[in-house]
Amino acid sequence: MKAKRGFTLDIALICGLCLMPVLWLVWRFVQNDLGVNPVETVVRQLGVWGLRLLVLGLALTPLARLLRQGRLIRWRRPIGLFAFGYVTLHLLSYVVIDQYFDWAQIWSDILKRPYITFGMVAFVLLIPLALTSFNAAIRRLGGVVWRNLHRLIYVIVPLAALHYFLLVKADKTMPLVYAAIIAILLGWRVWEWARKKV
Ligand code: HEM
Repeated sequence: MKAKRGFTLDIALICGLCLMPVLWLVWRFVQNDLGVNPVETVVRQLGVWGLRLLVLGLALTPLARLLRQGRLIRWRRPIGLFAFGYVTLHLLSYVVIDQYFDWAQIWSDILKRPYITFGMVAFVLLIPLALTSFNAAIRRLGGVVWRNLHRLIYVIVPLAALHYFLLVKADKTMPLVYAAIIAILLGWRVWEWARKKV
C-alpha cells in the first residue's frame, strides 16, 4: 500500500501540538502571568522550545527505525519548521523586547559573548534548511545535494546545545541532559553510517 502524502491527520495533530507552547505564552501574557521578569520568560521559553523541537526532529529517524514506524519520518518537516519558527521568535524577542533594537549592543553581543555567537551561527545555518524544506526546493536541488545540505543539522543542534550550556551560569544539569541526548542521537548516526560501510 502506498504511504499517505500531504496534510494528513497526524501532521495536523503535530502542528496543533507544536503551536501549544506559543499559545500558552500568549495566554500567560494576557493573564499577566509571565513572572517577575516577563521578558526573560518569553526569550527563554521560546529558546527552550526551539531546542526541544530541534532535538525531537533529530530523534525521529532513530525512533522510526526502533519502533518500525516509517510515518515518523514525515513528522520531521513540520517539527523542523516549527523549531525554526520558535528560534526565529526567540531571536526576535531578544532583538525587540530585550534589546529594543539597539543594533550596536546586539552586534557587540554577537561578537563578544560566546553564547550569543554560537546561537547566532546556529540560527544562520538553520535558514537554508528552512528555505529548502519544500518539495519544489527538493526537486530543484536534487536528492543528493538536498540531503548533504540538511546534514547541517548535525552541526546546528550541538551549537544550540553549546549556546544553552554557556549561558547557564549556576546549575548546568539541564544543558548537560540535552548534550547527553544529542550525543546519543549523533552517536547512533555514526554507528549506522559505520555499519553500512562494512
Ligand atoms: C538555534 C538557535 C537557538 C536555540 C535553539 C536557542 C536556545 C536557547 C535556550 C534553550 C535558552 C535557555 C532557555 C532557558 O534558560 O530555559 C536560550 C536563551 C537565550 N538565548 Fe538562545 N537559542 C538560539 C539562538 C539564539 C540567538 C540567535 C540569540 C541572539 C542573537 C539568542 C539569545 C538568547 C538569549 C539572550 C537568551 C537568554 C539568556 C538569559 O536569560 O540569560 N539565542 N536560547
